Amino acid sequence: METMRHVLITGGAGFIGSHLADELLRSGYRVRVLDPLVAQVHGEDGRRPPYLNPEVELQVGDVCDKEAVGRALQGVDAVFHFAAAVGVGQSMYEIAHYTRTNNLGTAVLLESLMAHPVQRLVVASSMSLYGEGLYRDGSGRVLEAGERSLEQLRRADWELRDAHGGVLEPVPTPESKSPALASIYALSKYDQERMCLLAGRAYNFDTVALRFFNAYGPRQALSNPYTGVLAIFASRLLNGSPPKIFEDGLQQRDFVSVYDVARGCRLALESPRAAGEVFNIGSGQPQTVRSIAARLARVMGKDGIEPEIVGKYRVGDIRHCFADISRARSLLGYEPQVTLDDGMAELSAWLAGQAAVDKVAQASAELSARGLTV
Ligand code: UD1
Repeated sequence: METMRHVLITGGAGFIGSHLADELLRSGYRVRVLDPLVAQVHGEDGRRPPYLNPEVELQVGDVCDKEAVGRALQGVDAVFHFAAAVGVGQSMYEIAHYTRTNNLGTAVLLESLMAHPVQRLVVASSMSLYGEGLYRDGSGRVLEAGERSLEQLRRADWELRDAHGGVLEPVPTPESKSPALASIYALSKYDQERMCLLAGRAYNFDTVALRFFNAYGPRQALSNPYTGVLAIFASRLLNGSPPKIFEDGLQQRDFVSVYDVARGCRLALESPRAAGEVFNIGSGQPQTVRSIAARLARVMGKDGIEPEIVGKYRVGDIRHCFADISRARSLLGYEPQVTLDDGMAELSAWLAGQAAVDKVAQASAELSARGLTV
């Protein structure tokens, strides 16, 4: 769309938003970011992150602040709404904070858009709203499984089972799978996407919701203990410690390079057919946690460090979920380009230059103090 040249990214100083800023600048857009530079992600000094592209116009402000949002919307044609608190475990005890930032923040943005209309709003949603992914039973029937029982998990019986005890086989999860909201975070992400989609319909601007799978890559917030498993494993390996694998390590996820995610975001902005739709943005490839631990150790030259399989369950964890990306392929022209090995090598090269602060122990202590791990 020729006229959409000036883009606002809320939360654009963060991991995915800052890569999107690079991607948009490369494609000739002007980029403004509204970001409060929260200490949990950016450190106590609240300075502009050094990785943020110098061409980005940064406005430091909170998405819950109507005046800051109004200022940030001046003269923009499109908005990516990425401002959110993102810790699944943390959302279970900082409920007011998560609901304020994610739900109220979206509400303030949508009200502000009435006074400052844009052509398109793209909102960051999450695979976490699916809960368990989609499964197939022994007779070939595709079904939506419930949660694993606590009693089953205590027996270290990790797989989803049908009524007769047969193990269910995971299949790619499409956007049509019903939400199974298992955390305040997931609930708030679902609210965010629904609020945006229905406001877009009511006020006649295009809205696109993107459900990100397990994005990884440079700039993951290492000092944020609620970061994804690949960054946690890589920082442990760099410190010479073994990765700790929950359950038996055979749980499957969809790890997608942040560069592919950023491309998916730009396509969601540019594709006329995206309006009003929801898309999975993943790699489309299932990986077990055990296999990514092994591959990561290999690309980092740390094969000597054997991961520790702890055989414990993290409360709220699902067993398997990986994306069916056919809708993004056909309507956005999205195609993941970064192989897992290349992406992991890049993550670890970046990590080697970082002070890999291992705050994972602290985060686990916070969760277990509240009875959120078994
Ligand atoms: C969660 C959220 C997702 C969010 C992502 C990154 C859900 C369902 N999804 O995904 O929205 O984008 O966090 O913040 O809540 N693991 C280990 N050892 C560790 C850490 C993790 O074995 O030290 C395992 C976990 O048990 C899990 C897998 O690795 O099976 C992935 O964990 P994680 O990276 O936290 O992401 P998800 O839980 O998939």
